Amino acid sequence: MQIRSMFAANYRSLKSIRMDMAGVNLFIGENGVGKSNLYRALQLVQAAVRGRLAYEIAREGGMASALWSGRSTGSGPVRIKLDVELLDGERALSFLYRVEAGLRPREAAAGFAFEPQVKEEELRVDAGRSATMMKRKGPLISVRNTAGRMEEYPEQALTSETAIALLGDAGHYPEIGTFRRAVDGWRFFHGFRTDRDSPLRSSCLAVTATMLDEDGSNLAAVFATLVHTRQDTVDLDRAVADAFGGARLIVPNPQEFAEFSVVFSDFPQRQFSPRELSDGQMRFLALAGALLSYRRPRFIALNEPETSLHPDMLPALAEMIATASADSQIWIVTHSEILAAEIQKRCGTRPMRVIRNDGATWIEGMRLTGMMDDGD
Ligand SMILES: Nc1ncnc2c1ncn2[C@@H]1O[C@H](COP(=O)(O)OP(=O)(O)OP(=O)(O)O)[C@@H](O)[C@H]1O
Ligand SMILES: [Mg+2]
Repeated sequence: MQIRSMFAANYRSLKSIRMDMAGVNLFIGENGVGKSNLYRALQLVQAAVRGRLAYEIAREGGMASALWSGRSTGSGPVRIKLDVELLDGERALSFLYRVEAGLRPREAAAGFAFEPQVKEEELRVDAGRSATMMKRKGPLISVRNTAGRMEEYPEQALTSETAIALLGDAGHYPEIGTFRRAVDGWRFFHGFRTDRDSPLRSSCLAVTATMLDEDGSNLAAVFATLVHTRQDTVDLDRAVADAFGGARLIVPNPQEFAEFSVVFSDFPQRQFSPRELSDGQMRFLALAGALLSYRRPRFIALNEPETSLHPDMLPALAEMIATASADSQIWIVTHSEILAAEIQKRCGTRPMRVIRNDGATWIEGMRLTGMMDDGD
């Protein structure tokens, strides 16, 4: 299931922005224009689905910090509004989820000051005809039952809870479950730590790993799964050889812990362990784990993946991104014109330039509807 469009309002520098999404979405732009805020809005949708919205907002400094600080249009209290539309191409179905959260009213006792107060939520499914599957207003939730009728859900939601997570946990509602699983499978790689104590450099338990964890801590298990379970490492071997001048990745059949090392063509007799690799080399291998894993996330976001990579490595990175784009929807934020050009060459995607308009994040050449002026 692909993300067809997203909308965010009153979240940090996103005053109000709707955007259609493609298979590969490439963003460039100056520091502080709101590139990370854009994909953070999608991360918050994932948090809502996982029942972690309050935690995530509190962790980033609370509602007062997260709410758009500029003047707002319209009347009434300001709310963070997030929408996504997912398209299930195979079944010609689309799912629309929206959530609105605001500040705690001064007189209210429910919830804590830093938490968002979830005010409204809705999940609609459109299969030619649009039907509401779930609607929440304040604590009251109504949901479509198996007989196809809307009924009141017996439990009320706390202000910090999302109905989508509550109903998903209940397990009785197949459409809600389908939507939840799709969103839960998105992966956001914001950047990998490469210091001495980074999880990338430590060994990890040898447990079959079909996808890379967002902090990269199961990288060795991802490689071991490719080498010993799938027994097909053509893309991975090519990426390592292209990026590191003909180097080879060595992945022994693991016992308790999964491990890997690299043999460079300059030292054919010597295996270099993750502790001995450079920051850029480690980061490239982590990106290989993210993009070439056994099972690919339906949506992969990479924030500035070029960080600490020499320009010579960027064609190999773009090649991995193109490979992954065969079954994943991709979102890339980059400051590298070279990487953007290499991706454009392989995927035909033109970079979108993120700008600021009176403090608010916008995309150059985009209409209010979210479509680009040239109709792309
Ligand atoms: N509550 C808020 N209201 C309005 N703007 C905000 C709010 N919180 C943060 N910002 C603005 O958002 C910007 C940061 O956005 P973001 O981190 O997405 O930038 P970026 O484009 O990813 O930049 P970089 O390339 O440096 O990573 C800052 O300029 C900051 O002023
Ligand atoms: Mg950023």
